[in-house]
Amino acid sequence: MAGLDLAVIGGTGVYRLASLEGAEAVGGDTPWGKPSGPVRVGTVAGKRVGFLARHGEGHALPPHRVNYRANLWRLKELGARRVLAINTVGGITERFAPRVLACPDQLIDYTWGRAGSYWDGEGGEVLHVDFGDPYSPAFRAELLAAAARAGVAVLDGGCYGATQGPRLETKAEIARLRRDGCDLVGMTGMPEAGLAREAGLEYACLAVVANWAAGCGDATEITLADVLANVEAASAGLPAVVEALLG
Ligand code: HPA
Repeated sequence: MAGLDLAVIGGTGVYRLASLEGAEAVGGDTPWGKPSGPVRVGTVAGKRVGFLARHGEGHALPPHRVNYRANLWRLKELGARRVLAINTVGGITERFAPRVLACPDQLIDYTWGRAGSYWDGEGGEVLHVDFGDPYSPAFRAELLAAAARAGVAVLDGGCYGATQGPRLETKAEIARLRRDGCDLVGMTGMPEAGLAREAGLEYACLAVVANWAAGCGDATEITLADVLANVEAASAGLPAVVEALLG
């Protein structure tokens, strides 16, 4: 297996990588069950890239039903070293307005009941991985440099609050996240980042701000139409960032 120069996990509204050429689908089960769908393995700028739609290619899987363990296992099996996670989020603090791209450097996990570790069996080894910096500092730096080379604005830093979903949050929940220090809120950041660390993958998040989180903007309601329109607009720069990452 030739390995992958980059693996990309697409979030809500990002179901394919337009620049992926000659892609083959790699499917099937892993020891942790079924991934969200096939990994499309092809080339971008002559480099091997694997793309996986986190929610499935038809967006059938809600955040709490995604098999995060199987997804990362499959990418690792394919020889991924670096995993670029694209996560659609709501913006809480001022800088993180709809249509902004951001590369958070911290997270707080509010999810529950998700299978969050590979060290889950009886009698097996238990490993407490360091997670002080939940995103790979080296890969974050590469990502930010690539975005700069590509001329795509990406905010450096911010704290991602991972909520359970699939419903959106109450205004009081978002006020609490703000008090806790969260800048962004999304439903898929964990346990994905923790599992990536356990698997020894270099993992970074490119957050696509789709809406103001509840109570943060002027909107009286967060609609799916607004979310998807903002993701589509903000995602325009993603192919250039991916290409620059491979350059
Ligand atoms: N909250 C949680 N997840 C999200 C949001 C939000 O407001 N927008 C997009 N994903």
